[in-house]
Amino acid sequence: MKTRRLYTGALMPAIGLGTFGSDHVSADEIAEAVKGAAEVGYRHFDCASVYGNEDRIGGALREIMRGGVRRADLWIASKLWNDKHGEDDVIASCRKSLDDLQLDYLDAYFVHWPFPNYHPPHCDVQSRSPNAMPYIHENFMRTWRKMEELVDLGLARHIGTSNMTIPKLRLLLRDARIKPAVNEMELHPHFQQPELFAYVRANGIEPIGYCPVGSPNRPERDRTPQDTVDIEDPVIVKIAERLGVHPAVVCIKWAVQRGQTPIPLSTKRRNYEANLRGATGDPLPAQEMREIAGIDRNCRLIKGQVFLWKQGQTWEDLWDLDGAIRT
Ligand SMILES: NC(=O)c1ccc[n+]([C@@H]2O[C@H](COP(=O)([O-])OP(=O)(O)OC[C@H]3O[C@@H](n4cnc5c(N)ncnc54)[C@H](OP(=O)(O)O)[C@@H]3O)[C@@H](O)[C@H]2O)c1
Repeated sequence: MKTRRLYTGALMPAIGLGTFGSDHVSADEIAEAVKGAAEVGYRHFDCASVYGNEDRIGGALREIMRGGVRRADLWIASKLWNDKHGEDDVIASCRKSLDDLQLDYLDAYFVHWPFPNYHPPHCDVQSRSPNAMPYIHENFMRTWRKMEELVDLGLARHIGTSNMTIPKLRLLLRDARIKPAVNEMELHPHFQQPELFAYVRANGIEPIGYCPVGSPNRPERDRTPQDTVDIEDPVIVKIAERLGVHPAVVCIKWAVQRGQTPIPLSTKRRNYEANLRGATGDPLPAQEMREIAGIDRNCRLIKGQVFLWKQGQTWEDLWDLDGAIRT
């Protein structure tokens, strides 16, 4: 298993299994996939309270450890949901995830989104929280101080960010006592985020890549007519044909080789096994890596519309595209 060394010296497996059922895969199916993935060699699992399945995954993890896998050899991450940014909620939320997952500590705990704007699971993209707010750095730092306390308490070995931008990270790095060790961000061949990717690595933060296959089965609400399809890209398909693998596996090979840690979800053994084999097998030649670098379409799939806080905004306002944090 390839690993990434974090700034603490800890080693994180360079591929993980995603566990978001995209509103249509049941908690039990995800828990089965976690068990099956551990059998074929996965040790990294990307969880979140909002995925609504941590209690089932907890049962799977217990079985995995009963089967002889040591806790120290697992890398388990979870995430703080948007309605739990309050100072009294952060530690309680982490403890709830730990209880559900049947663990004493997490390897990584993320702030899932930098906005405290709650929306219920399964809601429509037009849905808006009446109390929605922009990113307010002072408020985020109050949440982050509690995240730091989780490290002090030994409940999380590392803390991380997710869905951040360079301007927001710059402020956090200026003010954090314990800086993020990991940053979870959307990364796939059609959305390579080269500036943010370079920025986090230059600051000693490991990038975790979500939707690494381009999330072909994502919920309807996360689809727009402009979205492109990574696994149908002629460059990806050509390499897949050369290797005799599914195009998804090419996305995973590229991700691991580029330096991010992909967290593909699959509930099918042949697929999650092929992804793991892709991650650990022979590298792609430099020419194919260059060809994939050339197919970036800047196509963000998870746009985050439900976090918008003002009338007349578009999802681009969430991502600080001109280098300034929107207020
Ligand atoms: N931090 C965040 O805000 C955030 C946002 C989104 C996602 N995530 C995390 O990232 C994980 C991955 O994202 P995702 O699940 O949306 O997208 P993804 O991993 O890009 O795509 C998953 C889909 O690809 C298919 N697939 C995977 N490997 C395959 C293979 N080798 N051959 C054929 N099909 C394959 C799977 O179908 P089968 O099951 O049929 O194989 C599954 O439906 C999530 O589960 C979650 O843990 C985090």
